[in-house]
Amino acid sequence: MEKFVPVVVIKELSETDKILTALKNSGIKTAEITFRTACAAEAIAYAVKNYPDMAIGAGTVINAKQCKEALAAGATFIVSPGLSEGVAKICAKKNIPYYPGCVTPTEIMAALELGITTVKFFPANVYGGLKALKALSAPFPQVKFIPTGGVDRSNIDEFLAFDKIAAIGGSFFVKEALEKMEAEQ
Ligand code: 3PG
Repeated sequence: MEKFVPVVVIKELSETDKILTALKNSGIKTAEITFRTACAAEAIAYAVKNYPDMAIGAGTVINAKQCKEALAAGATFIVSPGLSEGVAKICAKKNIPYYPGCVTPTEIMAALELGITTVKFFPANVYGGLKALKALSAPFPQVKFIPTGGVDRSNIDEFLAFDKIAAIGGSFFVKEALEKMEAEQ
């Protein structure tokens, strides 16, 4: 997977081009479009069609229904704030990577039992940040993490330096990309 996973919130379908173009221009090749807005599935379908060189996934997928909608729209990976067995089963069946939010040993064990070895660590800043990730990696050396929530330019390098980091998630990638694009105009 790509190292940077921007958490994208699209309020209106018409914003999709601006956001994805900004990300693309910043060299980011992934977008996690979140199911926090009514147009999420539509935005995913639009992005999949118009940005074929980007990996378009769905985020904030909290149940099987949303997962099915996301996959029907063409999402190529699924992210949840927590762990949903229903979502995990659908993704496993369709061979789609699923990154559930796991912050405790019990949650990580539940993910492992579902065959998942890369998890989102969310909200990373609240659940102990890098210190917690290092402690969790001792009993779970096979697990890779995607810290998300409270990660930004001030701490991204610390996370990236740890070898159990699969990727970094965050909304700040979008903010930065949009600011960069506006400054260049
Ligand atoms: C998420 O859903 O992953 C978070 O809202 C992202 O957190 P951030 O805004 O602190 O990056």
